[in-house]
Amino acid sequence: MQDKTKLKNVLVTGVSSGLGQSVARQLREKNYYVIATGRNEEQSAVLKAEHCCDTTILVDLGDAASVQTVPGQLREQGIEELAGFLHCAAVTGGAPIETMTMNEARSIFEVNVFGFLALLQATIEFLRKAQGRMVLTGSIAGFSVWPMLGVYGATKHAMEAIVDAARRELWPWGIEVSLIRPGGIKTRMIKLHLEQMAARMAALEGPEKENYLGLYASYCKTLASGERLSATPDYMAEKIIKVFESAKLKPDYCVGADAKLLRFIDLVFPDSVVDFLTRKLFPVA
Ligand SMILES: NC(=O)c1ccc[n+]([C@@H]2O[C@H](COP(=O)([O-])OP(=O)(O)OC[C@H]3O[C@@H](n4cnc5c(N)ncnc54)[C@H](OP(=O)(O)O)[C@@H]3O)[C@@H](O)[C@H]2O)c1
Repeated sequence: MQDKTKLKNVLVTGVSSGLGQSVARQLREKNYYVIATGRNEEQSAVLKAEHCCDTTILVDLGDAASVQTVPGQLREQGIEELAGFLHCAAVTGGAPIETMTMNEARSIFEVNVFGFLALLQATIEFLRKAQGRMVLTGSIAGFSVWPMLGVYGATKHAMEAIVDAARRELWPWGIEVSLIRPGGIKTRMIKLHLEQMAARMAALEGPEKENYLGLYASYCKTLASGERLSATPDYMAEKIIKVFESAKLKPDYCVGADAKLLRFIDLVFPDSVVDFLTRKLFPVA
């Protein structure tokens, strides 16, 4: 049952890894009561054993039925209100638009858009009671999309729309909603993505190889050098918690020098300039 000595309840997703894990740990250090989402019993046990959270609920964002059980799971643990919903879970995936499979595209949307939307819906009644806040992790890809990341970017664009609408609908109850667009973070997501893209490149054949080998190669190279310059999850989590605890939330934040630079370029220059720069970053020959 809920530990009443803790200050406030916060629900954090993506705690098994990367950004979400750093956010959860840092919130615990600040005496928040951290409720982490675990995908299954085994993962939940690990999160508790590793002191990443105070308690867990089971949520698989790729499974609509699982998300619907969230209110019941919270109440079973005596949790009636939330001061915060910090969403860090997501999946990625890359391929040229021409060859991205519909199955992969759907599975990325399932987690990043439909699972996210369903979980956001489920938290509202709990946030309403505490005038709680949502701090939701988007991406640079929510406004500027690199080649190979069309579908991932589409999910982050969709997220931006959901977040804008939520912020404009939930203010009467004092629920503030904010979107964080981080720059690169050195996490499992990037490492696995790099490995996946390298494996895909090695297995290319037929017309996909003929048409896209150069793009795969430059994409992997640019991503690998970007990874080396990326921020640590702890650094990014610190910034996110600073936002979460600020007196008033702004609608959105770009965090990290790379995110700020890309936002500036996106806002100031026309698409033709961004296309030119992208061609330089991702040469195909
Ligand atoms: N890393 C970057 O450079 C970067 C840059 C910009 C934005 N972002 C965004 O930052 C956020 C955190 O990313 P990260 O880099 O920390 O990634 P990460 O290390 O891969 O962590 C992703 C988290 O999402 C969880 N997750 C994935 N699928 C799930 C599902 N079906 N149900 C429930 N949880 C699921 C994972 O849990 P499992 O262990 O169960 O898979 C994991 O805890 C994401 O929104 C990402 O898009 C990352």
